[in-house]
Amino acid sequence: MSYPSEVDAALAAFDLDNPQFPEALDDFQMQDGGYPYAKKLKRSKYEARLEDLQVELVKLQRHMRENGQRLVAIFEGRDAAGKGGSIFNFRRYLNPRHTHVAALAKPTETEQGQWYFQRYVTHLPTEGNMTLFDRSWYNRAGVEPVMGFCSPEQHEQFLSEAPSFEKALVRDGIVFVKFWLNIGRTTQIKRFHDRRHDPLKVWKLSPIDLKALTKWDDYTKARDEMLVRTSTDTAPWTIVRMNDKRRGRLEIIRHVLTHFDYEGRNDGILGAPDPAIIGLDPSDLT
Ligand code: ADP
Ligand code: AMP
Ligand code: MLT
Repeated sequence: MSYPSEVDAALAAFDLDNPQFPEALDDFQMQDGGYPYAKKLKRSKYEARLEDLQVELVKLQRHMRENGQRLVAIFEGRDAAGKGGSIFNFRRYLNPRHTHVAALAKPTETEQGQWYFQRYVTHLPTEGNMTLFDRSWYNRAGVEPVMGFCSPEQHEQFLSEAPSFEKALVRDGIVFVKFWLNIGRTTQIKRFHDRRHDPLKVWKLSPIDLKALTKWDDYTKARDEMLVRTSTDTAPWTIVRMNDKRRGRLEIIRHVLTHFDYEGRNDGILGAPDPAIIGLDPSDLT
């Protein structure tokens, strides 16, 4: 994909350590990657809608407890796509005893010697509970092959086996959704810059993130192959545009809610998905 020349120039000269973020990148950030809106959703609107949806999630959780249902939601996307914030807002008013977030560290030596899915399986929910995965077994379709943490054979084996693994979960009765949070390159750079210069966010900036700056195209290739090979009828990918985190977070919650017929569901609050933000085809991505 080609950028306007002033964006190209700013990217070439970009210095993460300079506290001043280049204006050309700032101006371009929202539209990068084909984003359909020029501005973020207004904060007041966002907060009101978010709260309405969070109320629905509370109803959903009660329904799941009463009916012994299980939910697994996977949050995937490039570094800084907005996985952590989406999960934070999703679970904010839920009972932590029944809402588990799995954000696994890199595998230990013992884990490396196990069946690849094993360390993830232990985080699957029991009746009435949900697990939100902040990254998941899909590390083996993204960060691992791109950074050289697995062999090409392991990558290939994963792509061919993930669909049957997920089919088994769904057949067992788990409600399973997987989100790909999509951002443009300048959005990623802007968020890394925020992290570098904001003392509250600096913990999020990892050495892997810094390497990702130079691996954009490798990640794109890995993403495209993953979306094609692992999107199935039982476990399809749901693609969400995340240059504006606010719109994206609302769509994510709404999408999960629509999988359940819970008591007191307010379909007026759920509304309809915005097809420019969620439910895109992989071929819509750049
Ligand atoms: P995050 O973006 O999740 O905050 P990082 O950017 O540090 O964290 O790492 C990205 C992912 O890569 C994590 O899921 C981490 O567990 C994984 N990872 C890091 N190092 C390795 C490794 N040596 N082998 C396999 N996976 C790794
Ligand atoms: P992100 O940059 O994707 O991590 O999202 C940051 C946003 O998520 C914040 O503006 C908050 O709304 C929310 N958030 C994430 N983590 C926290 C936290 N530890 N405390 C408060 N808000 C958080
Ligand atoms: C995100 O913002 O996508 C997640 O918090 C993970 C990260 O990028 O480090």
